[in-house]
Amino acid sequence: MRRKLVAGNWKMHGLQADLAQLTALNATHPAPAIDILICPPATLITAACATCEGSAMQIGGQDCHARASGAFTGDLSALMLKDAGASAVIVGHSERREAHEESSEIVRAKAKAAHAAGLTAIICLGESLAQREAANTLDIIAGQLSLSVPDSAAAANTVIAYEPCWAIGSGLTPSPEQIGEVHDFIRARLTTRFGAAQADGMRLLYGGSVKPGNAAEIFAIPDVDGALVGGASLKADDFSPIINALESAA
Ligand code: PGA
Repeated sequence: MRRKLVAGNWKMHGLQADLAQLTALNATHPAPAIDILICPPATLITAACATCEGSAMQIGGQDCHARASGAFTGDLSALMLKDAGASAVIVGHSERREAHEESSEIVRAKAKAAHAAGLTAIICLGESLAQREAANTLDIIAGQLSLSVPDSAAAANTVIAYEPCWAIGSGLTPSPEQIGEVHDFIRARLTTRFGAAQADGMRLLYGGSVKPGNAAEIFAIPDVDGALVGGASLKADDFSPIINALESAA
């Protein structure tokens, strides 16, 4: 019922030459049975859209400002990302929550701006290692979820990415049981807030050290609708087997 989605987050990696990775992915996956989204640095969005013209691959941003325009030097609005060709934007990634001190209230404002601009908001949540070790994971997720997801969220415009901070870029992943527990919890909370019709349609991604070697196991977990992939999305040779694993699970 929910179409699977694999999203690649290139972070601060990627020059024009790296668009060749998209060309390679499009050649290998001309008619995917899942949604594929790549979020390159904003400098490459327009060129990436041109590279993917006529293909099924979508292009997204990695962050946006909460306002549509204004005196915010260096920032980009959701409207600008949309105008450049993006169809989605990641908001609340833990690297932004940590390095840019973004609160869940800020994340909610950004997600709302994404919706207003006609973009899908990929809203990231996740606990730190200390929070998990203190058995606070579900409390942290509950708080982030209620504060970061705006009332404008619906199945058609919102994806939730569960990304434990300690799993990002570390090579560590939670057990399937741990991922399943958090995804079930998120789904239940979304159902309470938005009703089953909307909550059942919202895709829940897992993110954090997803690789070709562990993708199939992660995609077999009930309520995992795909993945948000960092390092392994940079090269078509790494991302392609992850796409295949998700197609097999679809
Ligand atoms: P990773 O990053 O796959 O490199 O762990 C995931 C993310 O930050 O979204």
